Amino acid sequence: MWSSRWMFVLAAAGSAVGLGNIWRFPYITGENGGGAFVLIYLVCIALVGIPIMMAEVMIGREGRQSPVNTMRGLIQQHHQHRGWVLIGWAGLLAGFLILSFYAVIGGWAFKYILGLAGGGFTDATAGQATGTFDAFLSRPWEMLFWHTLFMVVVVAVVSRGVVKGLETAIRWIMPLLFVLLAVLLGYGVTSGGFGQGWAFMFRFDWDALTDRALFEALGHAFFTLSVGMGAIMAYGAYVPSSVSITNTVVTIAVLDTVVALVAGLAIFPIVFANGLEPGQGPGLLFVTVPLAFGQLPLGALFGAVFFILVSLAAITSAISLTEPALAYLVEEYNAKRSRVAITWGAGCWLLGIGTVLSFNEWAEFHIVGDMTIFSFVDYVTQNIMLPLGGLFIALFAAFALPKSVLGNQLGLTGPVARKLWLVLAGLTAPLGVLVVFLVTIIGLESVKAWFAG
Ligand code: PFF
Repeated sequence: MWSSRWMFVLAAAGSAVGLGNIWRFPYITGENGGGAFVLIYLVCIALVGIPIMMAEVMIGREGRQSPVNTMRGLIQQHHQHRGWVLIGWAGLLAGFLILSFYAVIGGWAFKYILGLAGGGFTDATAGQATGTFDAFLSRPWEMLFWHTLFMVVVVAVVSRGVVKGLETAIRWIMPLLFVLLAVLLGYGVTSGGFGQGWAFMFRFDWDALTDRALFEALGHAFFTLSVGMGAIMAYGAYVPSSVSITNTVVTIAVLDTVVALVAGLAIFPIVFANGLEPGQGPGLLFVTVPLAFGQLPLGALFGAVFFILVSLAAITSAISLTEPALAYLVEEYNAKRSRVAITWGAGCWLLGIGTVLSFNEWAEFHIVGDMTIFSFVDYVTQNIMLPLGGLFIALFAAFALPKSVLGNQLGLTGPVARKLWLVLAGLTAPLGVLVVFLVTIIGLESVKAWFAG
């Protein structure tokens, strides 16, 4: 059990705030042209992400086991179809796939701690910062080393059980991360690119919106909140019954969104002030941030601390990626936690080599279209598996669980509150996912044309 409401907030925020906010949000915003993407992402968080996160915490707290066994238990208790248990299994698979590339990018953050501490970026030009990153990408062995180190750290931490250490770590990481993002933001404001950065993120241009942006905004909303795969359900299992799910979930979602927006507002001014390309891809964070710290007093020190914090935020998220699987394996087979953690981590590590090679030796090896192993795993998990997982989680919470459970778990006693919840979890959230999937399949252009008459 988490020792208080705050401990759950911290743990869930530790899961939510990670590479998704600081590394992925800025770079996919850049790739998808800015404002329109950001707006859709925000709408998805509010109407789809938050209700599904509430559903996950609620199911977890009702079942009080690992996601797979929680689903099994609730299905049995309420005489529901056995197929619902797929929610649990799909979550294990998604966690496995996501961790495989998450650990590689976490390894990049590790590498950049040393890169900055060494003073290599002092007064660097945009060209030098880009060159350093590209050169790093071209060295698979080095990347493999950092990938391995990241995985070893995660396995070491989860072997000891989740709660210990996590609470204290996050208590420090979050505020410090905020402070350093604020420093970067301050730098951005004075760099001369702030107006452009702001406009890029918040000017909504309907014509610039593409199918891909729509689809990715939805997927990213799931990824950044850690919902759709049981991670939050697994943490929900340890939430004391007295905690208000609604307040807690809204707090976490707001925190997560603020971190992402601040990261974007810190990074895009650097992009524009230095003539960089907003859509340059996964390297965005690793080019812009060193560049900024290179121009600040004590930049080597603060830059290194920044990447330490990013690494820690990545570790707390990675821990939650393993929790559904580890909790299940320990529970079901009475296995030793450390043994399960090592085996699971080794599997993710092995698959992660595919991501390492996607940036160099196998860059021309495409699974479908122009997708490398990395982009394929990233696409399938975030844009397809998490939204589908979330869709079924919402439907299960809204329709398969009896009203008494809703009443107890969410404290929804009045008919109005209950209706509102049913509209959000039973209607807007599933509909949001379906509409985005449908529009992507039909093609946004035809939908726009249809609306235009
Ligand atoms: N939410 C994490 C991030 O934004 O970096 C990533 C993540 C963690 C996704 C846990 C899914 C998950 F279950």
